[in-house]
Amino acid sequence: MAPSVLLPGGLLLLVGAQLLAARLEPYDLLYDSGVQAYYREDWPSVILSMEKALRNRELLRRHRITCRMQCADTSDYSAQPPGRGPLQDLSLFQRVLERAACVRGCERHNMGAPDTYFMASEELELEFRKRSPYNYLQVAYFKIHKLDKAVAAAHTFFIGNPDHMEMRQNLEYYKMMAGVSDSDFRDLEAKPHMHQFRLGVRYYTDEESATAITYFEKALEEYLVADVECRSLCDGPYDYDGYNFLDYSADLFQSITDHYVQVMSCRQGCVSELATQPGKDKPTDDFLASHFNYLQFAYYNTENYTQAIQCAKTYLLFHPNDEVMTQNLAYYSAVLGEDAAALIQPREDIQAYITRSLLEKELLYFAYDVFGIPFVDPDTWTPESVIPKRLKEKQKVERETAARISEEIGNLMKEIENLVEEKTKETFDLSNPVREGQRDTGPGVHDSEHESEVSLDPEAPEFRATVDSLIVAVNHALKVDDDSNSAPEHAVSFTRTKRSHKTFASHPDFLDIVRRHRERSDKCFTGGPVLFDEVSVVMTSKTLNGSQRVVTDGVISEDECRELLRLTNAAASAGDGYRGTTSPHTPNEKFHGVTVYKALKLGQEGKVPLRSAHLYYNVTEKVRRVVESYFRLDSPLYFSYSHLVCRTAIEEKQDDRQDLSHPVHVDNCILKAEAMMCVKEHPAYTFRDYSAILYLNGDFEGGHFYFTELDAKTITAEIKPQCGRMVGFSSGSENPHGVKAVTKGQRCAVALWFTLDPRHNERERIQADDLIKMLFGPEETNVFPGNESARKSETRDGVVTPPEPPTGPDSDPPKKGVLQPPLDSPKTKTEL
Ligand SMILES: *[C@@H]1O[C@H](CO)[C@@H](O)[C@H](O)[C@H]1NC(C)=O
Ligand SMILES: *[C@@H]1O[C@H](CO)[C@@H](O)[C@H](O)[C@H]1NC(C)=O
Ligand SMILES: *[C@@H]1O[C@H](CO)[C@@H](O)[C@H](O)[C@H]1NC(C)=O
Ligand SMILES: *[C@@H]1O[C@H](CO)[C@@H](O)[C@H](O)[C@H]1NC(C)=O
Repeated sequence: MAPSVLLPGGLLLLVGAQLLAARLEPYDLLYDSGVQAYYREDWPSVILSMEKALRNRELLRRHRITCRMQCADTSDYSAQPPGRGPLQDLSLFQRVLERAACVRGCERHNMGAPDTYFMASEELELEFRKRSPYNYLQVAYFKIHKLDKAVAAAHTFFIGNPDHMEMRQNLEYYKMMAGVSDSDFRDLEAKPHMHQFRLGVRYYTDEESATAITYFEKALEEYLVADVECRSLCDGPYDYDGYNFLDYSADLFQSITDHYVQVMSCRQGCVSELATQPGKDKPTDDFLASHFNYLQFAYYNTENYTQAIQCAKTYLLFHPNDEVMTQNLAYYSAVLGEDAAALIQPREDIQAYITRSLLEKELLYFAYDVFGIPFVDPDTWTPESVIPKRLKEKQKVERETAARISEEIGNLMKEIENLVEEKTKETFDLSNPVREGQRDTGPGVHDSEHESEVSLDPEAPEFRATVDSLIVAVNHALKVDDDSNSAPEHAVSFTRTKRSHKTFASHPDFLDIVRRHRERSDKCFTGGPVLFDEVSVVMTSKTLNGSQRVVTDGVISEDECRELLRLTNAAASAGDGYRGTTSPHTPNEKFHGVTVYKALKLGQEGKVPLRSAHLYYNVTEKVRRVVESYFRLDSPLYFSYSHLVCRTAIEEKQDDRQDLSHPVHVDNCILKAEAMMCVKEHPAYTFRDYSAILYLNGDFEGGHFYFTELDAKTITAEIKPQCGRMVGFSSGSENPHGVKAVTKGQRCAVALWFTLDPRHNERERIQADDLIKMLFGPEETNVFPGNESARKSETRDGVVTPPEPPTGPDSDPPKKGVLQPPLDSPKTKTEL
């Protein structure tokens, strides 16, 4: 068969034509340069980069949609050869091939590169979803006195972040300014369907039915457009979330199924996406159907019974048993005349929408039932009959089990709490002097003196053993099989071992209790073993005048320090990692560094010595182990983020320097020093539990690390960096810390943040683990054999340390006026 038969002519032309568009500039790079410009206070560049980032992201979205829609339109699956068997399969596959070629050709043509070239990291996507670029733009426009644009950017950001206090104040301030008009408060990211719907509701509430109708009808049109667009964006790459993609081994039909089911789930998810107002977490229930509820009554108010009947009937497609609507319909029909009413059909586009949606749900439930791929139905109107009976029964059992589990967990929590109380009391009663940081003779081996001290310590092995056995007992009693709703059943690679134990150990209540009793027992805390002979504890919480702190020396050797220093400089000049940009914390220092994964990639590409990258990887794991062991953690620590970073004093900027290299902060909450408070909420990395910094050198001036009280001023302890020294501490409000200005030379350190919550295990770390496995073979992956494999399967949001968010105009805002919340929720059903 000649290729031209396989791929029809038009398509060949499209692929063959070298009329490629100039490659779009990736919006993640533009965003980065915008942020950097922000710290240089180069406002015009902030505006240029951020505006372009927003524009390019939107362009990309448009191109994706257009290409996928065009190619969907041109493929014709109906022309099937007669009969059954391989010919049918081939013919179907031919269409699939054609469509893939069409999409690829279209993307290359429109964007200058295949779609995957533009994939941005999840973290960055999140920034855009949170509308962060507008926060930068707002400041930049304000600085160059473009008030109308500043106001629009501020308003746009605030709509997406209604709890942002600073922006609320900014907006109040803008309102009072001369030269700002009401029309400047525009939402630049408003979704047309949502906008029209809101206007509809507003006029409906004001009983202006005719106007309301216009807006609701427009809203419906826009909704269906947005729906098609949202659905076509679902045709993305397969997301391996939940298991290790290197071990993924599904066969042909299974892998097609996996991907297609994911795409269908995503398409169903458009219901929630379209019904979610900016700044809200939850979608409005039954959003599409509610349009028809408003419309039927608005049409009735304008005495347009034909339309009222049509809308009532359309509404009943979603909720056939709705009593109020059935009554309304009866009334309208009586007024119009039964015969005429009977002829009126529900809206066709909605009928088609529902048919398609039901078929999709049916397939998704089937996949749930047969392959165990979970599906969460976003709709409230799905008829029972769509859900397979067996699945319904299984879900019922699951719900009951879940209820039982949470009850048992509640009881268990109480028991643990009591136990902790008792143990803590005993310890205090005996006012047992406990020395901290003693070197253990080795893991699991205690000398007798130590033993007797520890036995009354809530951190003691017996205590933890009791907790463990309680957990085992509960799990056993419940025969917890929490795999059933986690990963697809066939994904054998998914690590199932100890899942229930881990799930329990990461239960927030449990973590909370552990944390609290750790705090309470701080006074009698005995540091655990540091596991390595060459590592020695040189300062403890006591000598560091605080709690949950430690300084160890000898974590790495002089040679290793030198090797890692060479590595960062090589990585920086290879142009990956952060390339000697100005520090995000001070304009008086330069900043460069590299993450473990990037170093390994560079090693793989031969741009840095692979051996050094491997050393870097090994070192981070060693630090993790030391921290986990020293603080006697009963569940494993996961990497939340780690990087090697150097700060270099800029020579000409050191006279009379007052600022810090890194201002005082707390790692897992937002420090409000004036109020002596630390607020544990977004955007702080609230899930971080332990932090560590490993120094690579000491030959520079300044740059001391220090702990303070919650006021960020009173210094409680100060540590001078030197090669192989590590500072470890818990990430909470008990440990505010900062870094003094580096006034001469270069200060390099590996900074690491850890979490006890496996869901926040950093994605980059898993990639690094995989890369190590690939490069050095499986037998070498276990740097420290033990609990590695269990750690790997949990792929979750990796997080990059972002610069501090910009703050807005800095004069004191006036204190009047309250902003309106963005939107009323739709009124409930209307009775006649
Ligand atoms: C009812 O509304 C439809 C659509 O807006 C319109 O075409 C029709 O003329 C209206 N009928 C009456 C009786 O007003
Ligand atoms: C890293 O650790 C592995 C496993 O212990 C070891 O084989 C390898 O030599 C180490 N590499 C470096 C550069 O330290
Ligand atoms: C702890 O506080 C004491 C007394 O204020 C001080 O002398 C000591 O240097 C502090 N410890 C460290 C490690 O800074
Ligand atoms: C693995 O973790 C368990 C508890 O989480 C611990 O008892 C065990 O010693 C660990 N194994 C190794 C080899 O570190």
